[in-house]
Amino acid sequence: MVLHANRPSVQALQPSLIRKLANTAIGRSDVIPLWFGEPDKPTPQFIRQAAKDALDEGQTFYQPNLGIIKLRQALATYMKDLYGTELSSENICVTPSGMTALALALQCIVAEGDAVVIPSPVWPNLPAAAEILGAEIARVPLRPRCGHWRLDLDELFAACKPNTSALLINSPNNPTGWMLQDAEQRLILDFCRERDIWLIADEVYSRIVYDRDYAPSFIDKVTEDDKYLIVNSFSKSWAMTGWRLGWLTAPKSLVRTLEIVTEFNYSCIFAPVQIAGITALQGGEEFICASSARYRAALTAVERAFGELPRVTFPSPQAAFYAFFAVDGVTDSYDFAENALRQCGVGLAPGAAFGPQGEGYLRLCFAADVSLIERALAQMKPLLI
Ligand SMILES: Cc1ncc(COP(=O)(O)O)c(C=O)c1O
Repeated sequence: MVLHANRPSVQALQPSLIRKLANTAIGRSDVIPLWFGEPDKPTPQFIRQAAKDALDEGQTFYQPNLGIIKLRQALATYMKDLYGTELSSENICVTPSGMTALALALQCIVAEGDAVVIPSPVWPNLPAAAEILGAEIARVPLRPRCGHWRLDLDELFAACKPNTSALLINSPNNPTGWMLQDAEQRLILDFCRERDIWLIADEVYSRIVYDRDYAPSFIDKVTEDDKYLIVNSFSKSWAMTGWRLGWLTAPKSLVRTLEIVTEFNYSCIFAPVQIAGITALQGGEEFICASSARYRAALTAVERAFGELPRVTFPSPQAAFYAFFAVDGVTDSYDFAENALRQCGVGLAPGAAFGPQGEGYLRLCFAADVSLIERALAQMKPLLI
C-alpha cells in the first residue's frame, strides 16, 4: 500500500530536480559531479580538530536552544568586525544549517494563505519551505541585462499584494550569482517598512564575492524596529556543508520567540559542531581569502571557455560559485543535463530546478580546482558547439 502525507501542502511538493538527476549517478567515478553547491575540499583541518577535541572532552550533552553563548558572541563579533554593526549575541539564533534557519524564519512569519514574493531563478528550497506552510509564491524574474543579472525593483514592489507577509530575497543568488547593491537594499528596506512586510534575506553566499571582501548586506542597514530575519550558514564560506550549522540574525524580541520555536523543532545543536563554528569564525579568514582566489581562477577558466562558444550565453556572476548559462536552442534543461551526464560524464543542475525563469539554463558549480573545471568543460564541448 502506498501511503501519502495528509497535509495537502506536503502532498503537493515535488522533489528537487537537482537531487532527482544526481540520484541517477551519484558516486559514479566516471562522472565529474558539478551539480551540488559545495566546495570540493573537506573542511580545514584546524576546524575539524576543534570538533574532535570537544568530542574527546565528552561534550555530548543537550545545549541551549539558541546555541552556545560563546558561539553567539563570536557571531556578533564576526558581524561587527565585518559590517561595523552594533549587534549583540541577543540578536542571534544558531541553527542546524542555513536550510533550517530559512524554515524557522518562515515558520515565524508565514501563515496559510499568505503570499511570499521571491526573486527567481532561485534555489528551489526557498519557495518549497514557504509552500510547506501553505503560502502562495509570487516569483519576480531576474533578467540578464548588459552581461549581468538584474532585478527590476518596481516589478518587485508591484508583486507585493495585501496578503504578502514576506519578501524572501537570496542575494548573492544561487544559481545566477546576481547581487543586490547597497542602494537597492535601502530601497527594499524602506518599502518593507512602509508596507509592513517582513524581509527575509538569505545571505549564505555573503563571503564568496569576486570584487570585494563581502557582499552588500541588510545587516548594516536594519534596526531593532525593523521586521527582518537574515539567514546565514557555515556551509559555503568555511566549507562545512556536511556539518549542518547556520544562524539567524533578527531583532532581539523575535529571537526570544525563536527560542521557543527551536525547542519544538530540534531543541539544540551538537556541541562539537558549534565549537567547530567558533573556531571557524576566529581563524577562518585566511581560508575564505584563499577559497575566493581559487574560485576566481575557476570562474576565469569558465569565462574563457564559454567566450569561445557562440551558442553559449553566460551572464557574469558577481558572487557565489556557479556558472548559470544558456545554450542556444536548448529548451529542456533536464533533458540537456541528462545528456551531459550520459554523453560527457559531467553532472550539471538543470535550470528548471530553479523555477520557470531558469528553464533553458544549466548550472555548473565551479568550487573546484581549475584543472577539474577545465576537464569538465572540455568533455562538455561537443554538446555546446
Ligand atoms: C541560497 C541558499 N540558501 C541556503 C542554503 C542552505 O545551506 P545549508 O543548509 O547547507 O547551510 C543553500 C545551500 O545550497 C543555498 O544555496
